[in-house]
Amino acid sequence: MDIISILEDKKRGRALSREQIDFFVRGAAEHTIPDYQLAALLMAIRLMGMDARETADLTLSMASSGDMLHPEVGGVPVDKHSTGGVGDTTTLVLSPLVAACGGKVLKMSGRGLGHTGGTLDKLESIPGMRIDIPEEEFMSIVRRVGCAVVSQSKQLAPADKTLYSLRDVTATVDSIPLIVSSILSKKFAAGARAIVLDVKTGSGALMPTLEKSIELAQAMVDIGHHAGRSIVAVVSGMEEPLGSHVGNALEVKEAIDILSGRAEGPLKKVSLFLGAQMLIASGITDTEEKALQMLSGALQSGAGLEKLKEMIAAQGGDPRVCMDPSLLPQAPVRYAVRAKEAGYLSHVNGTALGLAAQRMGAGRITKEDVIDPAVGFVMEKRIGDAVAPGDVLCTLHASSEENARETEARILSALSFTKEPAPKARLLYALLTPKGVRELNE
Ligand code: URA
Ligand code: CA
Repeated sequence: MDIISILEDKKRGRALSREQIDFFVRGAAEHTIPDYQLAALLMAIRLMGMDARETADLTLSMASSGDMLHPEVGGVPVDKHSTGGVGDTTTLVLSPLVAACGGKVLKMSGRGLGHTGGTLDKLESIPGMRIDIPEEEFMSIVRRVGCAVVSQSKQLAPADKTLYSLRDVTATVDSIPLIVSSILSKKFAAGARAIVLDVKTGSGALMPTLEKSIELAQAMVDIGHHAGRSIVAVVSGMEEPLGSHVGNALEVKEAIDILSGRAEGPLKKVSLFLGAQMLIASGITDTEEKALQMLSGALQSGAGLEKLKEMIAAQGGDPRVCMDPSLLPQAPVRYAVRAKEAGYLSHVNGTALGLAAQRMGAGRITKEDVIDPAVGFVMEKRIGDAVAPGDVLCTLHASSEENARETEARILSALSFTKEPAPKARLLYALLTPKGVRELNE
């Protein structure tokens, strides 16, 4: 076996055998195939595609390129994965709620890079919180509490690390077989038996159109199902930040506000919908209606908030933040961004908002950057809202007056207004299961 004949086959659009796939995946994991040959192969796969059998083989081969966890957590290990978004804190809302309903949520997460925030960075804004937790301890927290969110171990799917970093710089991210294998190999290696995927659609999403996002979601459901996982995918919109809060401590605060019953809105709605799919995929209940009732019950009784407290305490953090979010880091400057004219908020450039938060210090520009957990902003208007002159559009939590003024300009240029009423943004588009597609209209 050699890499040149594999390149030759894929260049001509031939399907690769399992042996050929194993060969280059091992070469990627062990760094025995040079980056230039892997990069050429990635482009050949991007242009010529892979069929369902090749995609399944690639996923399984990448999953077993490193450690494979076999979690024993006293239930079905369930995971949720979102393909990115700004102000998207569903993990922190739904993990404790699902745990309060008997689910076993094992979440290995990443740090943020670019315009979307990382769940780990959000958690680290909680004083004392540890996210580098050894496997045994991680499993024992999930067994006891029902949920834990930790950083992904370096030994999981090492082939993906090599390939993903090359895809980022070779314009080969938008390939369905490469996305499917990248995401699912990590879920398989981490031992998830039930998987709920939140595939975003809209500007800044992995795939450019709704049709392509649905095609990606369907491909992941098919591969997961054939590999014996209980799997569904939700296609959801990202026309604007899902929650109103953008920034690390601010997003933790918003999750606490929802779990305390103080906040409503799209973040709560989408979290409950995804959480319901997790309960069904885990076999805890069988209908969406019952699952939503269980989750609403856990929210109203405070059981979800209690689980978040337990999880924070188990991971070394200060659980008092759940009762008093002002114990989270606070930015020194508050600054109101106001509307200049009357109109309707019609369009939000989510990527630009994410970048504005990053430039405030909430996100990294390079991997080495240290983030400021306190900074960010709270959107006071959503798409479709009427706006009068002087209305507060957004409240900034900034490190300095100067930083606030720079951010104000960035935020204003990310928002568009019309004189005519504008429709609200769609939240949920479709639910895909191994049995087929259900259109959602929310
Ligand atoms: N996230 C991943 O982990 N992999 C991809 O290919 C795309 C998004
Ligand atoms: Ca996210």
